[in-house]
Amino acid sequence: MPGPISSFTPTESLSERRLADPSLPVPPRKKRVIVTGGSGKLGRWVVREMVDHGWEVFNVDVVPPAPSEASVKARYIYTDLKDYGSVLGLLTDVDSGWRGVDAIIHLAAIPAPARAPNHVVFHTNITQTYNILEAARVAGVKNIALASSETVFGIPLHPHPPESFPLTEEPERPESSYSLAKLLGEKMSEQFTRWDPELKIVNIRLSNVIAPEDYINFPKWQDDPWQRAWNGFCYIDPRDCAQGFRLALEKPLKGTHVFNIANADTAFTAPTAELVKRVFPNIPYKPDTSDPREGLISIKKARDVLGFDPKYDWQSEVKKLQAGKA
Ligand SMILES: NC(=O)c1ccc[n+]([C@@H]2O[C@H](COP(=O)([O-])OP(=O)(O)OC[C@H]3O[C@@H](n4cnc5c(N)ncnc54)[C@H](O)[C@@H]3O)[C@@H](O)[C@H]2O)c1
Repeated sequence: MPGPISSFTPTESLSERRLADPSLPVPPRKKRVIVTGGSGKLGRWVVREMVDHGWEVFNVDVVPPAPSEASVKARYIYTDLKDYGSVLGLLTDVDSGWRGVDAIIHLAAIPAPARAPNHVVFHTNITQTYNILEAARVAGVKNIALASSETVFGIPLHPHPPESFPLTEEPERPESSYSLAKLLGEKMSEQFTRWDPELKIVNIRLSNVIAPEDYINFPKWQDDPWQRAWNGFCYIDPRDCAQGFRLALEKPLKGTHVFNIANADTAFTAPTAELVKRVFPNIPYKPDTSDPREGLISIKKARDVLGFDPKYDWQSEVKKLQAGKA
């Protein structure tokens, strides 16, 4: 009699028990993760990160992956996350070949304010997050990471300056319908994890995602910090962001958590204290580290709890682009 496989969800255990000959051994399998929005700007890197770290990955999106991702060993499944029935079906019964989901990284959304009327952004994003959390509850998926956003800090920081720098996970000041839906995703997580003490939901407040080819713009901003005042001069490389999402799933936590994920430096060569003095002269700034160029979104908690360690700084990436190596 095969022993239980702890990574199987109750849903899969039930269906496997029904289908399989109990006298036969259960074949080993990798842990399975659904990445919603896996065809997007960030999602494609999250899919790669999870595949590279031994996960079986299902990219769930309304558009297929770009041709550049053809060699990445992930399966694409079409699902419109606005439809609860489809999301429940996705988590419980796509076909007998892959019943059972161990974890979900939920990225799919309208990814910024002002891409659609406010109510459309709000309803679309909050509905998709609810559908994922509720279907995961029904299917028994206990390990979830959600894309929240730096906008929860009050972006644009000019003219909505924070009380102090660096920005920790404390501020809750949405200034758009997009950001309101992100904050409510964090609040929903608190209630879903209160209902189920075994559940983990990690909300990643991620900074502005920079596609690797776009680092070429950074040198042009250097004389004008106002170009990036709106988000405190911060950015996140999608590969580092993907590392943050993977660590969020791999860390044995329970309950709801919020982590800032940004790069360690700012988008400028000037010292951070100078940038603050020039653009936010009345905002107190107490650095986290001795790095004179540290970012104004604090990643201390992600470093301490998750072991997050960003690897892709913009200056090195610009050098690679200039040398034609990126
Ligand atoms: N890009 C940034 O700077 C940034 C910053 C902070 C937070 N975020 C968040 O990160 C996440 C990913 O952002 P991105 O920049 O990769 O966005 P993106 O638009 O490039 O990717 C989003 C993906 O989700 C898919 N999608 C949208 N609606 C869907 C639906 N109903 N069903 C299934 N798939 C659907 C899209 O087809 C797309 O491939 C989003 O939640 C966004 O709000 C992004």
